[in-house]
Amino acid sequence: MSADLTFRQPTEADHARVLAALGPWWGGLKGEAGARERASLVPRLYFQHFTTFSRLAERPDGTLAAFLIGFVSQTDPSVAYIHFVGVDPQLHGQGIGRSLYEWFFGRVRESGVLKVKCITSPQNTGSRAYHARLGFEVSEVLPDYDGPGLDRVAFTRSLAAEPA
Ligand SMILES: CC(C)(COP(=O)(O)OP(=O)(O)OC[C@H]1O[C@@H](n2cnc3c(N)ncnc32)[C@H](O)[C@@H]1OP(=O)(O)O)[C@@H](O)C(=O)NCCC(=O)NCCS
Repeated sequence: MSADLTFRQPTEADHARVLAALGPWWGGLKGEAGARERASLVPRLYFQHFTTFSRLAERPDGTLAAFLIGFVSQTDPSVAYIHFVGVDPQLHGQGIGRSLYEWFFGRVRESGVLKVKCITSPQNTGSRAYHARLGFEVSEVLPDYDGPGLDRVAFTRSLAAEPA
């Protein structure tokens, strides 16, 4: 993995540049409508109230390299949820996504989490392959999961059997 990245907890000041990455970093997935849909899923509140288990990576010049937005469930503290993850396409395939996830698994495990969940669009074949590679069970396509026309694929990974 690229050794010159700095990892830290995001702040509210990071919101705009993460939003700016949601189009290009997703390779234009589902066009303009897809970029708008993703932006609507990442409001400022994630950078105000959900940063404890989130992570952001920067290059030495301060440009954004990667981010993960995740949290422990308020409803079930044995479950954690990864809401969004993105790695700059110039840095794909270098283990940065895996490193963000492994950091998250370690942090939430310390809080008693036994299971990690997340979802993606059925069209996001890269995300499906990546999550399968990281040990997530991959569901069938779940029609209208997030509302009419908003089908999703769900991922679940147990943390229970791994060392603390
Ligand atoms: C999905 C994403 C985060 C992966 O980040 P990354 O840093 O390139 O992934 P890594 O290099 O850590 O790869 C981890 C493993 O997944 C595999 N993998 C990653 N992307 C893959 C792909 N598109 N197809 C198949 N396997 C893939 C890698 O081969 C690697 O396996 P290995 O460790 O056994 O060699 C990145 O491609 C991305 O930002 N995509 C656009 C945003 C997105 O779709 N986010 C997820 C939905 S919210």
